[in-house]
Amino acid sequence: MCGIVGYIGTKDAREIIFNGLKKLEYRGYDSAGVALVNKNKIEIYKDKGRVNHLEEITDFSFNTNFGIGHTRWATHGKPNMINSHPHFSNNKRFVVVHNGVIENYKKLKIEKLADYDFYSETDTEVIANLIEHYSSDMSTIDAIRKTASILEGSYALLVMDMMDLDTLYVAKNKTPLLIGKSEHGITVASDSMALVGYADSYMYLNDLRFAIIKKDRVILKDILGFDLDFEMQDLKLTNLDIAKGNYEHYMLKEIDEQPGVIRNLIDKYFVDEEVNIDSEILSKIRLADRIYIVACGTSLYAGTVSKYFFERLCKIPVELCIASEVAYNMPLLSKNPYFIFISQSGETADCITVLKKCKKRNLHTLAITNSLNSSIDHLADDVLHIFAGKEIAVASTKAYIAQIVVLSIIAKGVANNRKTNLKNNLSKVALAIEDVFNNKNLIKEVAKKIVNAKDAFYIGRGIDYYVCQEAALKLKEISYIHTEGYASGELKHGSIALIEEGTPVIAICTNEETNMITRSNLIETVSRGALGIVISTESLSQTSDDIVISDVASYLTPLVSIVVCQLIAYYVSVLKGNDVDKPKNLAKSVTVE
Ligand code: AGP
Ligand code: GLU
Repeated sequence: MCGIVGYIGTKDAREIIFNGLKKLEYRGYDSAGVALVNKNKIEIYKDKGRVNHLEEITDFSFNTNFGIGHTRWATHGKPNMINSHPHFSNNKRFVVVHNGVIENYKKLKIEKLADYDFYSETDTEVIANLIEHYSSDMSTIDAIRKTASILEGSYALLVMDMMDLDTLYVAKNKTPLLIGKSEHGITVASDSMALVGYADSYMYLNDLRFAIIKKDRVILKDILGFDLDFEMQDLKLTNLDIAKGNYEHYMLKEIDEQPGVIRNLIDKYFVDEEVNIDSEILSKIRLADRIYIVACGTSLYAGTVSKYFFERLCKIPVELCIASEVAYNMPLLSKNPYFIFISQSGETADCITVLKKCKKRNLHTLAITNSLNSSIDHLADDVLHIFAGKEIAVASTKAYIAQIVVLSIIAKGVANNRKTNLKNNLSKVALAIEDVFNNKNLIKEVAKKIVNAKDAFYIGRGIDYYVCQEAALKLKEISYIHTEGYASGELKHGSIALIEEGTPVIAICTNEETNMITRSNLIETVSRGALGIVISTESLSQTSDDIVISDVASYLTPLVSIVVCQLIAYYVSVLKGNDVDKPKNLAKSVTVE
């Protein structure tokens, strides 16, 4: 959700904060704001809209070396100027920006702040007034710790104190926050991208950590107020890693990076023909009598594909778990369960909630993530990185591919059978994806056919059905066309009633056993007016098929067919003039439940 950037040092705070907020805008954005020290005052500029708009309303006439900024993804109070951050306390002494959700803010408002006035609908304003409430008889950092001790929920919090304009206060619980350091000052941000160019070293803050930050030093404390030692690590990320290059959108760049991501994973996770994964992890999975895969959105759909691997290759049953569901409705567990958490960001609140419950029950947990040093990485027993590189577009593409590849390699390692030449098969997949790129014009034609649709369906059976779920999410989240991924045989049991003249129905046919039956399911819709489109593998293709992909190992076809669907979604979104990388209402990392 949204982004936070703070800076205190000897450089121009505006430059660092605005550049940082722009790099974080992909995380979530409906309004933005900044608070800047101007001599002995704090100037606040904030409004609904993007960071570019905030720049237009911000006074650049004075020098400032200390400020905090925020891009908001509203959870309490609609997106408007009043609810946007920074928020100030009643007596205007404290100014705060906050990522996260305070679950008990209403109760605290009644119990602790009955005689305070509130101008916004946000939970954040309660934090500002609690700090004011406690500051009457304790130091600012103690007032912040005292406030944190009664908050229920998540926060990455930056606080400025009018009576102490050379100190930045920080508090963190559940929502990501990093502190970066260089010889010109200290930068605090929600994501390492905002530190690039301004910090040489950094550290992730663990939960319930508090910091007093001056322009040249950091004092770290725990919730009880004890000072903590800490180490900074070198910031290796560069602007090149996060640049768009010649691409119009990050999404297309990240789609094109997928063959390279696969080849990189082959290098990382194979030594010669052998799987290069910690044998301890493989042994724990081998002992499981059921694997529970916990994730959200695209990561869940990647996990769904891996069900095929673990059940067919390893003979271990797999249960897919929607994180937000099992967080409050844990399934009946087998005797030796093994939990795999899949999360590109490593900060998805729904996953973290489940992971913490698993930890409490001493259940085995493995995290598969693209974000080392993330919350999920720290919490799980073991972690395997997907090395996909920074994924900036909100719509996940290369992370989906990388997650499936890593899961296939784990399954190969667990099964430990030499029959599947996975390494070679994955190399062929990378080539097959490059073949898809040679058909981008054909895919653009498909996009043109469906761009004005109100509804659309992806249909398939078995592993093709699993791809339909992700294909549908891609199309709906960036084109805003209501799309469903359907088991092709299920359509006639009700949803076929939605088929109207011209409704696109896209069949994915990569499996010999189900190819013809899926095609007949498609014809059932076409005979009722649907616009039938077929994505098939070369060996199963028919002359009328719209997109034909190269043949690869049957259990790896999702890695190729999904790229066609990613591109269909991309081109439709471009044709509709949507903001492809930052679709409306969405955030790259959903750090609230
Ligand atoms: C995918 O395109 C979406 N951005 C979303 O479904 C995402 O996959 C989901 O929020 C999970 O995110 P995570 O992998 O970072 O946990
Ligand atoms: N809960 C706060 C609000 O609604 C912060 C949301 C966010 O993380 O942007 O303003």
